[in-house]
Formats: sequence, structure tokens, C-alpha cells
Amino acid sequence: MLKHQLVEKNVGLMGVLIAVVISFGGIAEIVPLMFQAQIVEPLEGMKPYPPLELAGRDVYVSEGCYGCHSQMIRTLHSETARYGHYSVAGESVYDHPFQWGSKRTGPDLARVGGRYSDEWHRVHMINPRAVVPESNMPGYPWLADRFFDAEEIKDRMRALRALGHPYSDEDIASATEALRGKSELDALIAYLQGLGKYTPKSQPVAASAATEASEAGTAAAGGE
Ligand code: HEC
Repeated sequence: MLKHQLVEKNVGLMGVLIAVVISFGGIAEIVPLMFQAQIVEPLEGMKPYPPLELAGRDVYVSEGCYGCHSQMIRTLHSETARYGHYSVAGESVYDHPFQWGSKRTGPDLARVGGRYSDEWHRVHMINPRAVVPESNMPGYPWLADRFFDAEEIKDRMRALRALGHPYSDEDIASATEALRGKSELDALIAYLQGLGKYTPKSQPVAASAATEASEAGTAAAGGE
């Protein structure tokens, strides 16, 4: 009782104790984040972006494609049925900054690699309505006339190496050749075609449950 009075009548002491109590909440939230980078491992065989895809990723970010496209498939059946295996943390270890997002004016792009030909993307990026008449995506025709300074991309790769991306000296040197004569459009398409390259191989949980259900349905029908 007396101790309680002591705290209530002493504003300074109460302030200190309030700060102590609040800091527990802060510690519980912040400390795990400090170790997150060590906990999330890249998927097996995963490599950082090659120079052309890295350059294309920069175009994706600078053109603000994330304003309409997410790159994160949720663990819901409707998502995995449409896009494929749900996204896992290990896929994003070489994404600085990540492009997950939640705004979907257009479809999720996490697994778009290989879904269309390079030529489809070229036509679509210049004028989306040429291939999808009802599309409200803007065209990006200027990308075809813009080119890269390979030295800049090499600096980017060195900066990412400092952040822990395992680029070798040869990887960095290869940027000159990889970017020679390539437009921003070429790089963006290479980036898009690489999305989902490291998709986990196992069946997504939601989708496999659905397959089992439909197989059970077929078996029942066959038994009749
Ligand atoms: C104003 C919103 C908007 C912006 C900004 C936008 N998109 Fe789109 N995107 C869409 C819509 C809507 C669709 C679906 C219709 C279509 O295919 O054109 C789409 C479709 C796509 C597709 C085909 C996906 C699929 O699975 O069929 C790709 C690839 C794509 N966008 C890439 C990009 C890239 C790269 C950028 C940035 C340079 C970008 N988009 C910017 C709205 C947008």
C-alpha cells in the first residue's frame, strides 16, 4: 500500500517505471527483427540477380510498377490456384528493397517468369492494349530507347555484395558484357522472365488439398 503511494505521489519515479514497462514491449518487437536476416535462408541453389536482371529490377522500381503489382502470393487457395506456390521468405533474400506489396490493380507478378514469350512482353510493355484490349496498364515505350551505364550496375553489385549478396569478382566484371547494347526494356523483360525462377518445388498446401479432394471425388464417382 505504502509502496504504491510512493509511486503515485512521485511523478518522476512513475515516469521512469512507465518507461521501463513500455520498453519490454519494444524489446519483444524489435530484438527478433535484428536476427531476422540470419534466420531467413535463401532457397536451395538460389543465386543473386545476374547483372541484366538486376538492371531490369531497377527499372521496375524506378517506373513504380509496384504501384499496381504485388509480388507476394498469399496462402489462400484462390491465390495459389491462380498464381502457383505461395511466396516464401527465402525467395526474397536478394531483394533490396523487397517488392511484396498489397496493391493489385494488375495481377501478382511473383511467378510471371516463363508465362509469356519475350516478344509478348515487348509488345505488352510498349502498348498493353495491343495484346490485352481491356487493359488499363500504361505503356512504357520509352524504355526501348534507354540504355545503361555498366559501371553504375557494377557499383550496385558491389554495394549489394557489402550487404551480403554473394557476387564474385567475375560476376561483377561480367556486367559490361551482359549489358552491352541492352535497352531498359530488354533488362526489364529479363527481370520479369526470371520472376519465380526459384519457386519452391513442393505442391502448395492449399492446392494439394484441393487435388486430393477432387481425386477422392473421381474415385467415388468411379465406384458407383
Ligand atoms: C496503373 C496500373 C499499372 C501499372 C503502373 C503497371 N501495370 Fe502491369 N498490369 C496492370 C493491369 C491492369 C494488368 C492486366 C491487364 C494486362 O495484362 O495488361 C497488368 C498486367 C501486367 C503483366 C501481365 C501479367 C499477367 O500475369 O498476365 C505484366 C508482366 C505487367 N503488367 C508488368 C508491368 C510492369 C513491368 C510495370 C512497370 C513498368 C507495370 N506492369 C505497371 C496494371 C498496371
